[in-house]
Amino acid sequence: MKRNITKAIFPAAGLGTRFLPATKASPKEMMPIIDKPLIQYAVEEAMACGIEEFVVITGKYKRAIEDHFDSAYELEEKLRNSGKKKLLEEINKMSHVNFAYIRQRVALGLGHAILCAKPFVKDEPFAVILSDDVIDPECFLLQEMIRVYDELKCPVIALEEVPKSEVSRYGIIDGVLDGDVYRIKDLVEKPKPEVAPSNLAIIGRYILTPDIFDILEKQKPGAGGEIQLTDALRALLNRRVIYGYLIRGNRFDAGDKLGYLKATVDFALRNKELAGDFREYMVQRLKQ
Ligand code: UTP
Repeated sequence: MKRNITKAIFPAAGLGTRFLPATKASPKEMMPIIDKPLIQYAVEEAMACGIEEFVVITGKYKRAIEDHFDSAYELEEKLRNSGKKKLLEEINKMSHVNFAYIRQRVALGLGHAILCAKPFVKDEPFAVILSDDVIDPECFLLQEMIRVYDELKCPVIALEEVPKSEVSRYGIIDGVLDGDVYRIKDLVEKPKPEVAPSNLAIIGRYILTPDIFDILEKQKPGAGGEIQLTDALRALLNRRVIYGYLIRGNRFDAGDKLGYLKATVDFALRNKELAGDFREYMVQRLKQ
């Protein structure tokens, strides 16, 4: 059976100001959690869902992303000669994957970054994955969203319940529960807590349909002077139904310092090689 969703876009052209100075000359998406960069977690998540084509939206100072997914002959040779088979397998894990890179010349916002992928996506539905939103792989978020898309043939956006005090950091939806998804009635980018329609925040996984491009092409800058995807989705609501899927597990905003630390601790506590010693260290450290 031909799968519906085979393409994924990884916007990675943002400036990463919350992580300066680390992100001044190197991409936020290359920051590691333990030993793997954020973008590799995101690509592996997509691969696990049957995605076959990968497009990364890059910008200035993002060359390290292309290098990371490219072959590294000298290193491979060295690992081969020194019998480091496991490491060699690890770095070759993605050698069969084809990546396309599209440059967003100016960081005009997430909506604009997605629009840059139009020539690649053409007229198919596609996934959008923000690699700084790290998702607990055990909650199969993207897989579930693709299932919902396959059933309902409508755009699906990932949601998370956030504390009311944090709604102004997110796009927030107004919606009604319909089975295991929310039927979205409205979306607002970064509302003040007093006027937010709910505490259901949009997080970095989307299944979109190509009709979003017509809207993005005409979209005026919104919050922060950026072309916002949330505003375009709001306009899309006038044309078609959009569903929200609530994450059943943890998400970490690794583009934020505290979120990044939490993700690191969480992944370390689940890492077979590190968990025991790391837990022991944490327990001792917290006693001080
Ligand atoms: P963020 O809102 O996290 O912005 O973007 P940012 O610039 O990366 O980081 P801060 O807020 O300044 O610290 C969400 C996603 O959209 C991408 C980012 O790379 C990130 O994956 N993005 C954002 C673009 O690709 N282009 C843009 O113009 C803006």
